[in-house]
Amino acid sequence: MRMTYTSDLWWKNAVVYCLDVETFKDGNGDGIGDFRGLTQEIDYLAGLGITCLWLMPFYPTPNKDDGYDVTDFYSVDPRLGTLGDFVEFMRTAHDRGLRVIADLVVNHTSDQHPWFVESRSGRDSPRRDWYVWSDTPEPNPKEVVFPDKEDSVWEHDPHTGQYYLHTFYRHQPDLNVANPEVRDEIARVLGFWMELGLSGFRVDAVPFLIENVSPELADPHDFLAELRAFMTRRKGGSVLLGEVNLEYDQLLEYFGDGLGDQLTMCFDFVAMQRAWLSLARRDAGPLASALRERPEPPKDCQWAMFLRNHDELTLDKLTEDERQEIFAAFGPDKDMQIFGRGLRRRLPPMFGGDERRIKMAYSLLFSLPGTPVLFYGEEIGLGEDLSAEGRMAVRTPMRWSAEGGFTQAERPVRAMPDGPNVADHRRDNDSLLRWIQLLIERYRESLELAWGDHTVLDAGDPAVLAHRCDADGATIVAVHNLDDRECEAELDLTGLERCVLTDLLVDGTVKVPGSGRVRLPLDPYGCRWLRVSAPEVSPEDASVKAQ
Ligand code: NOJ
Ligand code: CA
Repeated sequence: MRMTYTSDLWWKNAVVYCLDVETFKDGNGDGIGDFRGLTQEIDYLAGLGITCLWLMPFYPTPNKDDGYDVTDFYSVDPRLGTLGDFVEFMRTAHDRGLRVIADLVVNHTSDQHPWFVESRSGRDSPRRDWYVWSDTPEPNPKEVVFPDKEDSVWEHDPHTGQYYLHTFYRHQPDLNVANPEVRDEIARVLGFWMELGLSGFRVDAVPFLIENVSPELADPHDFLAELRAFMTRRKGGSVLLGEVNLEYDQLLEYFGDGLGDQLTMCFDFVAMQRAWLSLARRDAGPLASALRERPEPPKDCQWAMFLRNHDELTLDKLTEDERQEIFAAFGPDKDMQIFGRGLRRRLPPMFGGDERRIKMAYSLLFSLPGTPVLFYGEEIGLGEDLSAEGRMAVRTPMRWSAEGGFTQAERPVRAMPDGPNVADHRRDNDSLLRWIQLLIERYRESLELAWGDHTVLDAGDPAVLAHRCDADGATIVAVHNLDDRECEAELDLTGLERCVLTDLLVDGTVKVPGSGRVRLPLDPYGCRWLRVSAPEVSPEDASVKAQ
């Protein structure tokens, strides 16, 4: 039976695509990507099949942290366009059926934000309490996030003689969310952008955001529940997708425990890191154990799955030995590593450009339980630029044609090393772009993957990850070979005896024997998505039934 879910829970089977307006497409020829350029490429994105755009920060900014340092939450960075351009972009996106969410960066502001300028102007400033001030650099309760640039989360302000808290860089003072005025203002920011059509937000640095609410609210999580309730009142079906890089036992709280009244989705940093360990070892074990340990989010909530994003590939949840294994496999040069915990690389070069392996990794991403999130350029295998500073290595401009095609200007906002491009991928039916398009199409058709119960299966070979997704009597079985040798998975599909498995990625079927044990040959880095259909009824069986 094929399912026909229609639901307001659109995020359950969304395909999210993250991009930075600044590096996607320049529409006015000044070398900087902008909303006009992005609007021109909406048809490309709709054609790819993605369903939700996640815009990285596009607000006015001194750009000391690539836009994560905001000076005005109610406007568009003039380099990227105007509010008018934004609204035209939203209209076009909606016309093509795409939803849009955006980064909500309210743990901190830029130190050039007028609020902070006012706050630091004097101890008696009306906005003094909008930031977190202290007479002493309190013993650091937490580690600095960017150890290459900071050694404390407190910065002395000579003018007023106090210290302010900055979880990230010193130019990003933390907002004081214990102050109800600040919480109201944050809700106003949400309301503003929702009114302009956003379907929700990717919430930056959630654990840091809520940690300072106490003792104002009994439970810091009440703040998230307040925000979610506000959004639901304004616009049902809007989402909060949280950056919460914590272990599973702490994560459930961010969904609102059993209630599901806080974040709608959380990125699964644990499974992401274990997936990389599995890929490095060519052993499905670490990923399989993460999926088995992972708690079920409350009803209507969901995990978000990703392999790479705009930050370093953080490996902070692994042991030092495990991290070193991944460094050795995918980023052996010191220059590829960052913060002592991650890699500043994109996926294709980590696999030495091996297309079979790259394609298998994305097949894995789309088949795993959780909403898949792509980072722009992943669909064409865009590489990195290690000559760029720090995390900027993975944030090079999108490549549209052999010449680049990002801008008419001679000097793009960031260097554009040679690499793959959209035009070439479009001409080639075997390209990564076509493969990603196929995966998205199958994923969107296969609601079992998004809505179903997932079970990791014993595959009989350590290199193979096998799992099944069941929903309402429909089943898909997915198998992935993480190694570059041929192998055979042997699965126990008891209960599905004599059913037919139809391959969704290539032509072909396999029949489950009467024993329920099925053998599936896999190419090196082979991957198969198999839809289960009931056995055909033989004429003999039919006549028995008719009697
Ligand atoms: C998390 C973002 O992903 C990262 O890029 C940024 O530097 C920090 N938050 C600070 O906003
Ligand atoms: Ca421009």
